Amino acid sequence: MRTYLVTGGAGFIGSNYIHYMFDKYGDEIRIINVDKLTYAGNLENLKDIESRANYTFVKADICDKEAIAKIFEENDIDRVVHFAAESHVDRSIKNPEVFVQTNVLGTAVMLNSAKAAWENEDGSFKDDKRFLHVSTDEVYGSLPDDPNAYFYETTPIDPHSPYSSSKASSDLLVKAYVDTYKFPAIITNCSNNYGPYQFPEKLIPLIINNALAGKNLPVYGDGKNVRDWLYVMDHAKGIDMATESGRFGERYNIGGHNEKQNIEIINIIIETLQELLPDSDPRKANVTKDLITYVTDRKGHDRRYAIAPDKIKEEIGWYPETMFKDGIRLTIKWYLENEDWMKNVTSGDYQKYYEGMYANR
Ligand code: NAD
Ligand code: TYD
Repeated sequence: MRTYLVTGGAGFIGSNYIHYMFDKYGDEIRIINVDKLTYAGNLENLKDIESRANYTFVKADICDKEAIAKIFEENDIDRVVHFAAESHVDRSIKNPEVFVQTNVLGTAVMLNSAKAAWENEDGSFKDDKRFLHVSTDEVYGSLPDDPNAYFYETTPIDPHSPYSSSKASSDLLVKAYVDTYKFPAIITNCSNNYGPYQFPEKLIPLIINNALAGKNLPVYGDGKNVRDWLYVMDHAKGIDMATESGRFGERYNIGGHNEKQNIEIINIIIETLQELLPDSDPRKANVTKDLITYVTDRKGHDRRYAIAPDKIKEEIGWYPETMFKDGIRLTIKWYLENEDWMKNVTSGDYQKYYEGMYANR
């Protein structure tokens, strides 16, 4: 039985990935999920998984060498799938240091621990061990508003935000391990994800949550920045396929071929909520475009991201399967059916975060 060490599995993409993996492999695999449970980590995302005999949760910081070494000592890990990171650009602009700590140093700890556990005496690595580093398209910087310009794996790294520079640094560390030690690692660089369990600091869940509460919908700048949106389960599938079939030392772009301006996304959310909310729901009357509020732009705001996912399609056979119109409907339905989840994550520190981030915009 193959054993996976998943980092950051209590976050948005990690928890969707764990669901995907158990749906696909059932009892054929074991998953150990190591997560520090920061504000972004939520065990509620995995409550239907926690009773499985082939699932273990370990609360630990990936920067804690001893804790990570212990997991490798006590378990014969076959796959590391490394999600754990600080992931929000706006937070990185306010407080960059924790991004360097977790995203760079934490990745170094994960690489070093896996290397120590997997290395043979002659410096080669045990058979069938793989480390998948989950990264972002933001490492490539920003594209002009030219529909023919895309990020390729060969696009030079040019990050702008503290978040994307910390991810680019972690990508380079992974590459250094492959180049120096022939460490068995693969990198994936994915575009913006959306779907269930996403924390409402990111655009789509924040807009859904604010619209339902009748609050302003903050649009940074002119609202014409473009992101390439991918349904999170398509990403989970891509990660699994890249882990198994990716070539060591290669990076694979994963993207939705689904570029949208932020203002388009916000309009689609309003229209979909109008369709899905029953007439009897008193919130329905408030969910209108009047809530849209243009606010001060994000500092250093990248203009456009767009992924060319040709390499992963040609080499590995992955392609985005979920049409945006279906994925966004599924997502909004999920938030409507899981209002307690939203209430729980927005209680406590979230109000403080929201006021701090949006008060002076
Ligand atoms: P998230 O913020 O929802 O989850 C991050 C998880 O990591 C949380 O569970 C958190 O508790 C955990 N974590 C943070 N610091 C930790 C530490 N020091 N030790 C252990 N656990 C820690 O993030 P996400 O959106 O699920 O992103 C997951 C990964 O995917 C990240 O590496 C991110 O860079 C990458 N990514 C995200 C997107 C996106 O659109 N969200 C797109 C491409 C790539
Ligand atoms: P976000 O979800 O933070 O992802 P990223 O910055 O990693 O792409 O933001 C997506 C886009 O939406 C980005 O261009 C910034 C914009 N945005 C807003 O206009 N308003 C908001 O309140 C937020 C959170 C984001």
